[in-house]
Amino acid sequence: MQLLTLTNLDRCTVKAIPPAHRVLSVNEMVADGLARTPKRLPPILFYDAEGSRLFEEICKVPEYYLTRTEKAILEQHAQGMVAGCAADIDLVELGSGSALKTRILLDALFAGGHTVTYRPIDISRSMLERTAAELTEEYADLVVEAVASDYDTGLAEVGRRRDRQKGFLFMGSNLGNFQHDEARDFLATVGAAMSPGDFLLLGVDLVKDQRLLEAAYDDAAGVTRAFNLNLLTRLNRELGADFDLQNFRHKAVWDAENQAIQTYLVSTVQQTVRLPEIDLRVQFGAGEAMHTESSHKYTLDGLAGLCREAGLSLTRTWTDDRGWFAVNLVQPVQPTPVSHRR
Ligand code: AVI
Repeated sequence: MQLLTLTNLDRCTVKAIPPAHRVLSVNEMVADGLARTPKRLPPILFYDAEGSRLFEEICKVPEYYLTRTEKAILEQHAQGMVAGCAADIDLVELGSGSALKTRILLDALFAGGHTVTYRPIDISRSMLERTAAELTEEYADLVVEAVASDYDTGLAEVGRRRDRQKGFLFMGSNLGNFQHDEARDFLATVGAAMSPGDFLLLGVDLVKDQRLLEAAYDDAAGVTRAFNLNLLTRLNRELGADFDLQNFRHKAVWDAENQAIQTYLVSTVQQTVRLPEIDLRVQFGAGEAMHTESSHKYTLDGLAGLCREAGLSLTRTWTDDRGWFAVNLVQPVQPTPVSHRR
């Protein structure tokens, strides 16, 4: 890992704030999810070191068009996206993000003569330190003020500053991994941290041909399959569980009703799995599907409706030629002027 140099330290702070709400432990999440019918494991559990590495591999497989399409949209339209920005701007990224996409926007802002403070919010302090070190190495004028906490707490912290324009970034179709109500509440929390004139750039995947969608989550090289099964390897290691990976298969299907790809680990045999760390024995029937992730896809009308429900307004969309992915400008709703009655 690259170390922060003394010069960079002048321009970097990482403020760690304990999350306002207690974060569930892995043991609690697993015990809760396996007690449910149907069984489920939350997608946050994908991202141990191996899962994070596999996700980066997924972004490179030919079928997973999301990352490269979003990047192409940013490359083509970054100038337009930052055109209306104030001279001094805080760029608040939710998740310390693929530095690749952040760099495209930073390049556009610096080319336009803006002064930028980059304020990433991420639960992982080490990830933030790495991002801050790399970006301040590359951008001599960049100041980084990172917040290590959960999104709610980080947004409350960032929202306290009202003296500079804030541009929030939530890219990579990460919104799609929330259920509808969670997505609405999350957007409302971003809205609460906004002042008039602030904006959110929101990258989402769009509804498209079912075959393209299912292939993106079940690539021929088996990287997404390995990513899904790695959950069980993690539970074997961390909870002393005895999941036999041979007895589970990866499944990704389009759920038209909820407009989402749903992924599952399907038990191929009747079996009992032991998880001694949480004192649990779990029965799986042959063919029983355990849910591991929802990846919601949006129509622009649907997304506009979701933004309205969150008290925000979808004001502009940039998309690719095929209409597969969208980067959206979302702003606080302008208060309706009070009409003066005579
Ligand atoms: C991180 N997230 C937006 C990815 C997605 O497309 O839902 C996670 C992923 N799961 C399988 N492939 C990629």
